[in-house]
Amino acid sequence: MSRYMYSFVMMEAKLKKDAMTVILQRKSVRNFTGKPVSRADVLEILRAAMAAPAAVHMMPWKFLVITEKAELERLSAGLPYAKMLSKAGTCILVCALPGEAAFGSGEFAILDCSCASENILLAAEALGLGAVWTAVYPNKNLMGFVRKELGIPEEVIPLNLIPIGHPTGEDKAQDKFDEKNIHWEKW
Ligand SMILES: Cc1cc2nc3c(=O)[nH]c(=O)nc-3n(C[C@H](O)[C@H](O)[C@H](O)COP(=O)(O)O)c2cc1C
Repeated sequence: MSRYMYSFVMMEAKLKKDAMTVILQRKSVRNFTGKPVSRADVLEILRAAMAAPAAVHMMPWKFLVITEKAELERLSAGLPYAKMLSKAGTCILVCALPGEAAFGSGEFAILDCSCASENILLAAEALGLGAVWTAVYPNKNLMGFVRKELGIPEEVIPLNLIPIGHPTGEDKAQDKFDEKNIHWEKW
């Protein structure tokens, strides 16, 4: 790598936001420019996903990346709460595998994959992208539709679909901190 490239990469690395800023600025992004998301960014986001904690270190997850415009359109048409998919550059279906989870438990698989999903949302924010958790599990109809459309086997739980794209800037983070939700020492 040339010295010029090296300093550019270092500058980019420094421009990434610190952890608290990313956490507090994360928001559900539902408005996208339509610009595609680079493969490098998708891989970075999935590196973050797989860094999530998991019960008994079992990592019972698979991530299905969908980038084809026609497929994103079909998913958008079939999922009432995920209409923004048609404008996202890509989306990730987070799949929970009970058979690979701690104690073969579907509940653990879902908990672990929820941790991975939050990491996806945070990594997207850190990279200047936008993302939103759209529901699949536990709605049987949505799970059935996604299974059929994407060929997901019965033993795999499609947890959520996360559209990822370049934000238009319309969606803003909210301050949800509320001291009333904190109990100290005893309930
Ligand atoms: C389990 C779960 C299911 C959700 N389902 C959807 C959904 O189907 N469509 C959607 O647009 N947002 C969905 N969301 C996003 C929430 O609406 C959003 O997180 C909430 O309104 C708070 O806004 P914020 O993420 O910007 O802080 C879901 C979030 C979670 C955690």
